[in-house]
Amino acid sequence: MPESDGAEKIAAMLAAARAAMAQAYAPYSRFPVGAALLGANGKIYAGCNVENAAYPQGCCAETSAISAMIADGERQIRAVLVVGQGTALIAPCGGCRQRLNEFAAANTPVHLCGPQGVMQTVTMGALLPYAFGPQNLGSAS
Ligand code: THU
Repeated sequence: MPESDGAEKIAAMLAAARAAMAQAYAPYSRFPVGAALLGANGKIYAGCNVENAAYPQGCCAETSAISAMIADGERQIRAVLVVGQGTALIAPCGGCRQRLNEFAAANTPVHLCGPQGVMQTVTMGALLPYAFGPQNLGSAS
């Protein structure tokens, strides 16, 4: 079971992710996404997807949130939250799982949310088993 955060923290993360999602630049997919990261410092960092006319250059919400966290000087993710629209469960893409793993632990909770709120909570380890990470290169993140 994922380590649980307080309901209040999760609500604050969801609010931040929703606010970011409202700013998403997604004219091509028309699929706005918001993400929020809870840093070890207790602060919440949000991001949205930013698409590009050259499609592969687009950026996921999770990656935007990581940039905001790193720019603020935090390097440890205590919890992740992703919110999207529709009824299908939305989980970070493969590339973002790897990017999140760099700053998270196997037991870091990842809250997967839809329009109604949290649909499922999983762990980083469940999303990216046998992860290649900083430990493989003998460096701390
Ligand atoms: N997207 C995210 O931002 N995060 C995810 O977890 C899944 C997908 C974005 C990328 C693209 O802008 C749009 O959703 C459709 O794939």
